[in-house]
Amino acid sequence: MTTDAVNHHADHPDFAGVTGLLIGLIMSLTGRAAAHLAADVACVSDADRVIDVGCGPGTAVREAARRGAHVVGVDPAPVMLRLARTLTPDRAAIVWAQGAAEDLPEADSSATVVWSLATVHHWRHVTAGLAEIKRVLAPGGRFFAIERLVRPGATGLAGHGWTTQQGESFAAQCLAAGFTNVRVENHTPGRRALVVVGAVRP
Ligand SMILES: C[S@@+](CC[C@H](N)C(=O)[O-])C[C@H]1O[C@@H](n2cnc3c(N)ncnc32)[C@H](O)[C@@H]1O
Repeated sequence: MTTDAVNHHADHPDFAGVTGLLIGLIMSLTGRAAAHLAADVACVSDADRVIDVGCGPGTAVREAARRGAHVVGVDPAPVMLRLARTLTPDRAAIVWAQGAAEDLPEADSSATVVWSLATVHHWRHVTAGLAEIKRVLAPGGRFFAIERLVRPGATGLAGHGWTTQQGESFAAQCLAAGFTNVRVENHTPGRRALVVVGAVRP
């Protein structure tokens, strides 16, 4: 995996055990601005069925549910799903499911919105992930990938995200996968700048 690839942390160890739990707790605090941004840019409402790919501790899932949507939080890590359930007292409109971007446990055309927050950089296979997201989105469905904006050459924790060039590269991959209305935006909803790639399933 090259450091330029949009999934440059695909080889990162799975989130598991006490370390995974601690990372999940930290993400539940640091992910709030991105969760609000996702719901804002997607204009989520009670008419939506949202799938959060790589939901982690479920921050964006809860935000979408607060806005009235039915939401499925998908994550490959059992520790994340356990934490997400624990942090979610009101579960009425939420389903949690174990799975990965490359093999989503959802039916064809079942979602109006799919998003993946701070997660595409961990996907094993970008082409397979995009094909799955296109499959589960209904025609006209909206897809958003949101990543922390990082400096070129950043390493360690500072490298978990995308450079501007990686955002552009992912947008090109969305176009190649058959999405339309593909655009790249920078937002700073909290202390950190975020790259947002938005696309529509035709
Ligand atoms: C940095 S955390 C972000 C969690 C959450 N989206 C948030 O913003 O708080 C990355 C998450 O992606 C999940 N993940 C890793 N590989 C994945 C894949 N191939 N498909 C979907 N999720 C994946 C991890 O288990 C982890 O929960």
